[in-house]
Amino acid sequence: MTEVKENWGSRVGLILAMAGNAVGLGNFLRFPIKAVQNGGGEFIIPYLVCFLLMGLPLLFVEWGMGRYGGKFGDHSTPFILDNMTKRKFWKYFGVFGIFTNFGVIAYYTYIESWTLAYVWESIKGTFIGMDINNVSHYFDQYVDINDGVINLPWKALGFFVVTLAINIWILSKGLSGGVEKAAKIAMPLLLIFGAFLAFKGLSMGNTGACADCDATMAFNFLWEPNFNGLWNFKTWLEAAGQVFFTLSVGMGTIQCYASYIKYRDDIALNAMSAGWMNEFVEIVLGASVVIPIAVGYLGMEWVQNNAGFMMAFKTMPYLFDQWGAVSNVIFGVFWFGLLFFAGVTSSLAMGTPWMGFMEHEFEWGRKKSAIVFGIIVFILALPTILFFQQGVFDEYDYWTGTVSLVVFALAEVILFGWIFGIDKAWKEITHGADIRVPIIFKFFIKWVTPIFIMLVFIGALIKPKNDDWGIAWNSLTSGNGWIFDKGSILHQLFRFGEKTIWFENGHPTGTFFIDMSRLLLVLTFAGIAYLVHIASKRRENKIPIEHND
Ligand code: PHE
Repeated sequence: MTEVKENWGSRVGLILAMAGNAVGLGNFLRFPIKAVQNGGGEFIIPYLVCFLLMGLPLLFVEWGMGRYGGKFGDHSTPFILDNMTKRKFWKYFGVFGIFTNFGVIAYYTYIESWTLAYVWESIKGTFIGMDINNVSHYFDQYVDINDGVINLPWKALGFFVVTLAINIWILSKGLSGGVEKAAKIAMPLLLIFGAFLAFKGLSMGNTGACADCDATMAFNFLWEPNFNGLWNFKTWLEAAGQVFFTLSVGMGTIQCYASYIKYRDDIALNAMSAGWMNEFVEIVLGASVVIPIAVGYLGMEWVQNNAGFMMAFKTMPYLFDQWGAVSNVIFGVFWFGLLFFAGVTSSLAMGTPWMGFMEHEFEWGRKKSAIVFGIIVFILALPTILFFQQGVFDEYDYWTGTVSLVVFALAEVILFGWIFGIDKAWKEITHGADIRVPIIFKFFIKWVTPIFIMLVFIGALIKPKNDDWGIAWNSLTSGNGWIFDKGSILHQLFRFGEKTIWFENGHPTGTFFIDMSRLLLVLTFAGIAYLVHIASKRRENKIPIEHND
């Protein structure tokens, strides 16, 4: 048989790989934007509370489950979950731990490929002397946002293929020879680039470029705690969502990484180290670059009105140009290079659950697993690239990058703390621990974390229009029914009061593209579930292992 034996090379390597898994585009692009959109200092308290009550406990849970699964040779969530209970259906919950990665990586590597393209263009000096409109226009052209006419964005497609190929190549080198090595190179470079950029942001102050072009205002806005946010349910949901995304919990990647740890080795200190490292990068570095530098040249008001995920691509090259042509090139390379490194170490993580599953259930070799992974991701990503402006990208992000994470995290924390049992769970977490895990986490894992996630899920399910819970409640109690927000899960699923129209004047509508992308995601889920079914039959029958490659 050709089953691939994987192991981590060293403890430092493992921590860097785990930190690399967590540190990603979420830290540098998503966090600062979410903070601005949710009132800066209003966001930070809910964010930190979510980190402590949900993030850290989930890290312990996932590291614990992963190492436990590894003891039995399970390296992906379907059978890690299966091993913790007698009931057969749990393994199908585990499908999420592979599926979500496919959905997220499809759009995530696309963004990653933009950063590669921007490094390239920075080196070429493309952005030197461009004004803000030109930079913004450059981005629109790159992703082909152009009044509804669909052209093939060749360049974007090309960079995407290169980025995907880099990922596949590293994945095919295995854990210690690929993923760990990549993290050992990328993480230190990322920290150095990040420190430079953060220093720039921190030392900028008032540039005088406009009335409110003062970077200090950005820091004050972000860090001055404001207790109003505590009463805003939306802020809590957004904070919880960010904690999930940035820590990579609810995805199955941490369990997979942890399943390659020797059973006697520590997980408690490791989980803490990787988790806090992520927070350092997010809160200290992530918050000190895009927002302060943009405020320095475009003003506080402009940034508050224009904050969005694409801002980094539509403004940064212009901002770096304010420091001169040479800085334009150097900081362009630093910034987009940093994003690329952050992205790669995360997208690699999204590849490993599939690799672990195919290698250990079907005895596929690394190369074959990696290449097939690449082909599936390419098929899934194509619609996000070609129909970017029809909202396919956002649709993937919604279902896989937001909803699935919460569903899966809820399932696993209930399984670990209640079905597997909190005492056994606690033993798993503390076994071989190099630190004393505060006992309060036992209580958190059993009670606080599941209740918290449940609230988050219910909140997302029935999110009211304009996030106005008071008005929706009044409407409900006065007999007029709940007023759903379009972004609530229930409205997304049932489209209350809206007709589903796929074609208009012979042309496909936005809804058509959305529904097709949903279909694609459902098929992906079903496909993985089918593989899990076959794998479990193979396990039952102990089919003699065939020779593979
Ligand atoms: N945590 C990564 C980020 O912040 C995203 C990610 C999610 C990576 C899930 C792996 C798994 O960008």
